[in-house]
Amino acid sequence: AQHKRYSIATIPGDGIGKEVIPVGQRAAEAVAAKHGFALEWTRFDWSCERYEKTGRMMPEDGIEQVKAHDAIYLGAVGWPGVPDHVSLWGLLIPLRRELDQYANVRPVRLLRGVSSPLANRRPEEIDFIVVRENVEGEYSEIGGRLYRGTADEVAVQEAVFTRRGVDRIMDYAFTLARGRKRKHVASATKSNGIVHTMPFWDERFEAAKKRFPDVETAQYHIDILTAHFVQHPDWFDVVVGSNLFGDILSDLGPAVAGSIGIAPAANINPEGAYPSMFEPVHGSAPDIAGQGIANPVAAVWTAAMMLDHLGEVQAARTLEEAIEISLERPQSRTRDLGGTADTKASEAAILDAIHSL
Ligand code: NAI
Ligand code: MG
Repeated sequence: AQHKRYSIATIPGDGIGKEVIPVGQRAAEAVAAKHGFALEWTRFDWSCERYEKTGRMMPEDGIEQVKAHDAIYLGAVGWPGVPDHVSLWGLLIPLRRELDQYANVRPVRLLRGVSSPLANRRPEEIDFIVVRENVEGEYSEIGGRLYRGTADEVAVQEAVFTRRGVDRIMDYAFTLARGRKRKHVASATKSNGIVHTMPFWDERFEAAKKRFPDVETAQYHIDILTAHFVQHPDWFDVVVGSNLFGDILSDLGPAVAGSIGIAPAANINPEGAYPSMFEPVHGSAPDIAGQGIANPVAAVWTAAMMLDHLGEVQAARTLEEAIEISLERPQSRTRDLGGTADTKASEAAILDAIHSL
């Protein structure tokens, strides 16, 4: 039979992005060979380095160039000397918005061999997914400032919640929960203080419950929800939040599961009208870039999310299992996890584990 082939646009970006993305590619290649499919990679040098040479993070037709691929695999962008809003608004935000990647998905799982900053937690007690609305909500450009520099100075920023936008992120979260063992969705709200958009969010959550009667639910105000993440991480299965609340929860979540060096993320266009984009949670880490000591696990786990999205579910599971096997051995853990391994040693342990499975 003809092997399935997937074409992947890779954007390693800056700093350790360029060190960990190739590791993720080699690990994905190893499971592809095992599970009988092929990956074709096209590399794009879009980065702050490119910005400094050309004045643009990506070419003008950049979005068109990546549209033709099945998925995008991105390291991190950002580098000292280039303001962070340039790398964000010149690359990440246009990709997420123009490719309609409206669901930002971050799994939070305590892996075997990793210790949580929360005391005495076992892996089965921390296993949930944060789903963040990724294209509307509080992060809007509508608003303005008046009377600058005077005692009457005013700043106004509008939040935008649409029925279509809220319903589709609810559908994504509930569908995800339906495919999991616990089938539970918790919604982040603040309808006691934010009296227009958040009651609307709650109404659309109620409507979603009726569409998914088999899924259990809970609803918390964002303030107490952050406390529950720390005190009761075992309560959560799928957590859905607006752009702002989801942003906060999706950094807090990976923090309770150990190091930022292991946390994966995806920007999903669930309809498949455009390619989805997979990127580790961490940035370019200028403080350790070039030393060969970055933890490649986040990039490898991110590659597993990409394979899962492409429909190669078994290959994704193999990759995740290989990561956990590698982390069980202290000498294969990088320094951010309290080990001594460099990037190469961590990669070697992951590849060994893949071959052993
Ligand atoms: P960062 O995630 O790059 O680094 C934070 C700390 O975590 C540093 O001490 C770093 O050494 C450590 N760290 C991160 N990833 C690691 C890994 N894989 N292994 C071992 N240690 C790791 O966040 P920071 O310093 O706030 O940002 C640096 C640059 O990255 C900035 O320009 C920022 O804008 C950009 N950034 C880009 C993101 C993206 O492209 N999605 C996400 C976050 C930051
Ligand atoms: Mg964030």
